Amino acid sequence: MTRFALEINSRQQTVDADPEMPLLWVLRDLLNMTGTKYGCGIGLCGACTVQIDGVAARSCQTPIATAAGKRILTIEGLAANGPHSIQDAWIAEQVPQCGYCQPGQIMSAAALLAQKPHPTDADIDETWPAISAVAPLTSSYATPSTALQERRNHEYQAQSCAS
Ligand code: FES
Repeated sequence: MTRFALEINSRQQTVDADPEMPLLWVLRDLLNMTGTKYGCGIGLCGACTVQIDGVAARSCQTPIATAAGKRILTIEGLAANGPHSIQDAWIAEQVPQCGYCQPGQIMSAAALLAQKPHPTDADIDETWPAISAVAPLTSSYATPSTALQERRNHEYQAQSCAS
C-alpha cells in the first residue's frame, strides 16, 4: 500500500492503495464516488471516462500512481456550479436511454468542448469514436453528436445576440 494525494473535482483527497489499482476502483470503492461507471474494464466502452488534466481518460486503464498529482474531474465535479452546458444539451436532445453510459459520454464530450469550445462538424466526427464507444447498451449513437452540435450552435447564437 502507498499513500496518494489526489486532486479530484478541485478537492484534495488522500487514499491508501496499491499503485497499480485503477483510478476507477479508487473512485468507486475507496472514495464512494459511483458516478463513474464500470462497463468493460478493458478500455473499450468508455463508461469509466473521466478527465485528467482536461483530457478524457479511461479510468479503468489508469493506475492510481499515474493519476496522482494531476487534476482529476469526474461527472460529480462537472456540474459543481450548476449543469454543464453539455448536460443541458443532453437533456434538450433527450439523449439518455437507460442512463448507464451517460457519465462517460458526457465527460468525453465536455473534454472536447474544453479543448475546442466551438468544434466543427469535422472535430465532432473526429472525436465521435471516443464518444460513440461509450454506448454499449444503446443504439442512439447519433444523438450525443446532435447534442454536441446543438450546444455549439446555441453558443454561436448567444454570441451573435450579444454582439
Ligand atoms: S470500463 Fe473503462 S473503458 Fe469500459
